[in-house]
Amino acid sequence: MDRPLRVIQWTTGNIGRRSLHAILSRPDLELVGVYAHGADKVGRDAADLAGWPEATGVLATNDVAALLALGADACCYNPLWPSIDELVALLESGVNVCASAAWITGGKQSPADLDRIREACERGGASIFGSGAHPGMTNTVGMVLSGSCERVDEIRITESVDCSTYASAETQRAMGFSLPPDTPGLAESVRRESEVFAESAAMMADAIGAPLDRMTFDVEFTEATGDSDLGFMTIPAGTIGGVMGYHRGWVGDRNVVSVGFNWIMGEHTVPPKPLQHGHVIQVFGVPNMRTVLHCLPPKDWTESVMDLGMIYTAMPVTNAVPYVVAAPPGIVTLADLAPITGRFGG
Ligand SMILES: NC(=O)c1ccc[n+]([C@@H]2O[C@H](COP(=O)([O-])OP(=O)(O)OC[C@H]3O[C@@H](n4cnc5c(N)ncnc54)[C@H](OP(=O)(O)O)[C@@H]3O)[C@@H](O)[C@H]2O)c1
Repeated sequence: MDRPLRVIQWTTGNIGRRSLHAILSRPDLELVGVYAHGADKVGRDAADLAGWPEATGVLATNDVAALLALGADACCYNPLWPSIDELVALLESGVNVCASAAWITGGKQSPADLDRIREACERGGASIFGSGAHPGMTNTVGMVLSGSCERVDEIRITESVDCSTYASAETQRAMGFSLPPDTPGLAESVRRESEVFAESAAMMADAIGAPLDRMTFDVEFTEATGDSDLGFMTIPAGTIGGVMGYHRGWVGDRNVVSVGFNWIMGEHTVPPKPLQHGHVIQVFGVPNMRTVLHCLPPKDWTESVMDLGMIYTAMPVTNAVPYVVAAPPGIVTLADLAPITGRFGG
């Protein structure tokens, strides 16, 4: 491309705000539009929403038709809940979609919705791709580490963190936090809400040539022993303060891929396994490989540490824009693309 890629930023919450900031900082990307879900954001300059020092002249809008008419090359799609209708509209207009919102392969979608997405990609000559920190970067590292093995028995990835700094109350409640442990259907609801991890497990199985015959989900909950006020939500004593679960892929009785989490919220929870404060990537086989990814502040960092986690989540998606624009139309995954790198600071 001899011109910057024209990009739409879709929502500016925790992740989207950092994606927007990164788009503005990259000479090879040009911000052409910002979608706002919240009425309070409509009409505000992108700079204001991203904490960028100079006005951009790009105002956030909820006018989807106007955004589609911009002829953008790509959209960084970071809403709280993804919408198949929005994705179809973007793709069939020729806008390549890079998503953090519950999309890795699309495997958890209904066959009818997946057909709609594939047809929209064909019509618009566009691609859809999903990533993030976990799932996303962790799966890339797991797949790459397995390249060190003569034989791979299992790839296991665990997000092992205190999530108190992730201020998305709706996301946290969806995972069970602050709910009574006897909430009916809780394990099934957490399975459903976290099903994108199953997509990432299936992607890794495919990459290592393991023909999965089933996926399972197991979860255990830990009750908080005291009250925690996190500012954006409270975890009262006796409600769920810890959630540990895995989506597992099987070949017969062999568990070959496992993607999960060991999460706590607040100060009064003892998790079933000690926290590692990062992403634990294990490949079992010959040899066994293990690494832990930590997201740490650079020396000159003056913003909140929480923002670093948001950058870590946003960048595997935003940095993928040129790769996804260049990919053939359709659903593209982390296993299809060359390693996605960041950009030299200059
Ligand atoms: N793979 C990963 O590592 C990873 C990690 C964390 C999160 N995620 C995913 O990334 C996405 C964004 O996460 P986030 O923490 O940035 O979320 P968030 O800040 O809670 O919400 C993102 C934005 O969604 C819009 N929104 C709010 N309520 C909505 C609703 N009911 N329906 C549709 N949109 C709504 C708002 O847009 P406006 O700003 O325009 O008002 C909000 O700012 C989520 O889908 C999340 O699951 C992925």
